[in-house]
Amino acid sequence: MENWLKVCILVVIAASTTGNEEVSPAKLLFSKQILNKYLVEGMDIVIKYSLFNVGGTAALDVQLADNTFGPLDFDVVGGQLKVSLDRIPPGGNATHVVVLRPSRFGYFNFTAAEVSYLPSEDATEAQIGLSSEPGQGAIVPFKEYDRKFSPHLLDWISFAVMSMPSLALPFALWFSSKSKYELIMKQKKDLKQG
Ligand SMILES: *[C@@H]1O[C@H](CO)[C@@H](O)[C@H](O)[C@H]1NC(C)=O
Ligand SMILES: *[C@@H]1O[C@H](CO)[C@@H](O)[C@H](O)[C@H]1NC(C)=O
Repeated sequence: MENWLKVCILVVIAASTTGNEEVSPAKLLFSKQILNKYLVEGMDIVIKYSLFNVGGTAALDVQLADNTFGPLDFDVVGGQLKVSLDRIPPGGNATHVVVLRPSRFGYFNFTAAEVSYLPSEDATEAQIGLSSEPGQGAIVPFKEYDRKFSPHLLDWISFAVMSMPSLALPFALWFSSKSKYELIMKQKKDLKQG
């Protein structure tokens, strides 16, 4: 009976220790963001990829690939659309930036990039994940952008001109009251003397 109890206790202890040691495998959250406000034909677009390991072990042999930017639609001017990272520790982040130039205008559906990684030291099969999707965006023709935004400079100049009265008016008031005051003082003086 006593022996049996000992066995039971040992089993419980063993179970609880393996329970503690068991850590969740690496899990990567993957986001893809466009950092530009305007998408313009022939002008740089910055894409940021962020990976965040929310698992309990390091993600190994991380391969990031974005196959959504065809060479007919985009030129890569900075960074690479395929990168590999040895590991991302648990709780760790990795970011990657690519600069592209759209070679044509029109609507473009920005879809997900892919990531593959080994979720643990002894994993044999890679885990595949997809990034968030920025969604559809309008790439405006350069000419239109140029037409829309160069006049903005004129808008700013006319704004400055229009706001001038609001600065000029207080000055004019101050100046006229000052001269009125001086005139009164002068008249008083004249009266005393006269
Ligand atoms: C990683 O990124 C996530 C989400 O952006 C953030 O909550 C976390 O604090 C970051 N961790 C480190 C170590 O920077
Ligand atoms: C963009 O692509 C995604 C994934 O292929 C699809 O679900 C979505 O409907 C598309 N959006 C548009 C506006 O075409």
